[in-house]
Amino acid sequence: MTPQELKSLVRTIPDFPIEGIQFRDITTLIGNGEGFAATVEWLADRVSASGAQAIAGMEARGFIFGAAVSAKLALPFLPVRKSGKLPCDTIGVDYALEYGSDRLEMDPASVTEGQLVAMVDDLLATGGTACATAELLRKAGARVEHAFFVIDLPDLGGATRLKDCDVAVEALMEFEGD
Ligand code: PRP
Ligand code: MG
Repeated sequence: MTPQELKSLVRTIPDFPIEGIQFRDITTLIGNGEGFAATVEWLADRVSASGAQAIAGMEARGFIFGAAVSAKLALPFLPVRKSGKLPCDTIGVDYALEYGSDRLEMDPASVTEGQLVAMVDDLLATGGTACATAELLRKAGARVEHAFFVIDLPDLGGATRLKDCDVAVEALMEFEGD
């Protein structure tokens, strides 16, 4: 499937979760088996080319793609979780979302010192989630140089923000100006 065909599988829901937000919903993309497989393959090719030794996925939607890519490449998967979910000692970082704020946590023992970890998430908006994740992974001793997304919303400036955090960005598709 072409990137354009994959883009057509993403559903747009107007005014969710608040008025004025065009919600790009991956439910319909992953609900198409061929589309999900092609998306995971696209991400896996890029993660592989980056030389990453592990993949971090951000709860919740980053788990869908990150875990699938990890399994495909037989790389370790590092779940970066929302606050209060992990039973072990954690390190955490607070961050701002496109709407609202949240906290991400991880088990610092899941990363080995100097390990090259790539981030995978469904969507890049302001870059707040991915920047916070990079900060968290680095706190745990990882090297973070790449982030891979299914969707980029370039109008929200996430790629620029990530570049400022020394993270290179690639996305399968963009939605802009609408
Ligand atoms: C969404 C999306 C990205 C993030 C992008 O996560 O899945 O992780 O927002 O926005 P940003 O670039 O401005 O940080 P959210 O936590 O809203 O929902 P989820 O738990 O369904 O992944
Ligand atoms: Mg998310």
